[in-house]
Amino acid sequence: MCFQILGYTLRLNSNLGRINIECCSLIYFGRINLINNIMGKMEEENQYLCKRIIGSGSYGKVYLYEHPSTKDRYAVKQYVEESNKREYGIIKQLNHPNIVKMLDYDVVVRDDKRVGRLSLEYLPMNLKQYIRNKYMSDRCIKNILYQLLLGTEYMHSNNICHRDLKPDNVLLDEKAKIAKICDFSLSKKMSKSATHIHGVGTNSYRAPELVFKSTKYNYAIDMWAIGCIIIGMITKRTIFYYKDERFKVKAWLSYFGAPTAADLESMGIKTTGYVIEGEKDKDLFEELTCLSAECKDMLKRIFVYDIEKRITAKECLSHALFKPEGKIYDQIYQKNICMTVVRVGKNKGQVCGNRLKGNDAFCKRHNKVKS
Ligand SMILES: Nc1ncnc2c1ncn2[C@@H]1O[C@H](COP(=O)(O)OP(=O)(O)O)[C@@H](O)[C@H]1O
Ligand SMILES: [Mg+2]
Ligand SMILES: [Zn+2]
Repeated sequence: MCFQILGYTLRLNSNLGRINIECCSLIYFGRINLINNIMGKMEEENQYLCKRIIGSGSYGKVYLYEHPSTKDRYAVKQYVEESNKREYGIIKQLNHPNIVKMLDYDVVVRDDKRVGRLSLEYLPMNLKQYIRNKYMSDRCIKNILYQLLLGTEYMHSNNICHRDLKPDNVLLDEKAKIAKICDFSLSKKMSKSATHIHGVGTNSYRAPELVFKSTKYNYAIDMWAIGCIIIGMITKRTIFYYKDERFKVKAWLSYFGAPTAADLESMGIKTTGYVIEGEKDKDLFEELTCLSAECKDMLKRIFVYDIEKRITAKECLSHALFKPEGKIYDQIYQKNICMTVVRVGKNKGQVCGNRLKGNDAFCKRHNKVKS
């Protein structure tokens, strides 16, 4: 039996009447032959079952496949169109323990359309889900961050800029304590002279040079995104989450002040489309009172407008934060407490601090945190 009906409703006429099988379960997927070849499991041909959809976005859907007896798992990312194969072009060049491994790529015809499919090693969850559902200790955050930086440093030293780093695009295996970067659909091989489109990335994680419409940005955009990810892991909130981009720019200006002429020049900005005048009137670190001196220092070096001065992944890896004594939180916050930042007074905030039950990530009051 070999149905190749991935992602569609399969209608069977049987003597029991008409049966609708919603998309995935129990559909054999002939394509996995090739994975079997790669894995040296020729004798187990056609045995992988499509279990469920594990992700869907603008480029298509991601499916989980499992072998019924060995329980080996793979993820298959199926693009809406073959033309979206930029990701394949990038990912096939990458080979690093902190970057999701590609197993295969092929093109099939579905409804007269050519559809690209990327087979990947499977990891059980992404960082967004982890942040949402789990208590994250100092050690856990540091471990994920270090691996994220290792993967990023590897990409950057191979001239690849990810351009969409965010918790959804960091995969985790909690048991193996492994983090891997995924989703290279917006990534680009960079060269010094080339110009790039500024309309990339996900709103809350976009660096100022992108928002201010630079076409001369570089790897530093990934570092800004990592800064936002660090704060997300600590506070469980998306720090620069604003539906209206103007409010985000306003928030930057009040945290970091207005960029100077030299900053704008380094960012390669001529016209911004935004009024970028403003006084620094808030202190990010007064709101994040829980942070250690090392963690504050790293974030201060990340949230820098001048892209030449912004810390690189390589520099982060040898930062004091990763020395044995370096820590994310000050001692007092290493207990199992709710880390949601609550406002006290106009410009000040502090960590909630309510005790957590079991594996909960939030106290009762903050259980419904928006991202
Ligand atoms: N190899 C994988 N293993 C497990 N889950 C994955 C894998 N690849 C993607 N996913 C899940 O699918 C989601 C969407 O995949 P992604 O590659 O980010 O595509 P998109 O371009 O739609 O964002 C991810 O956020 C992640 O939760
Ligand atoms: Mg994604
Ligand atoms: Zn709380």
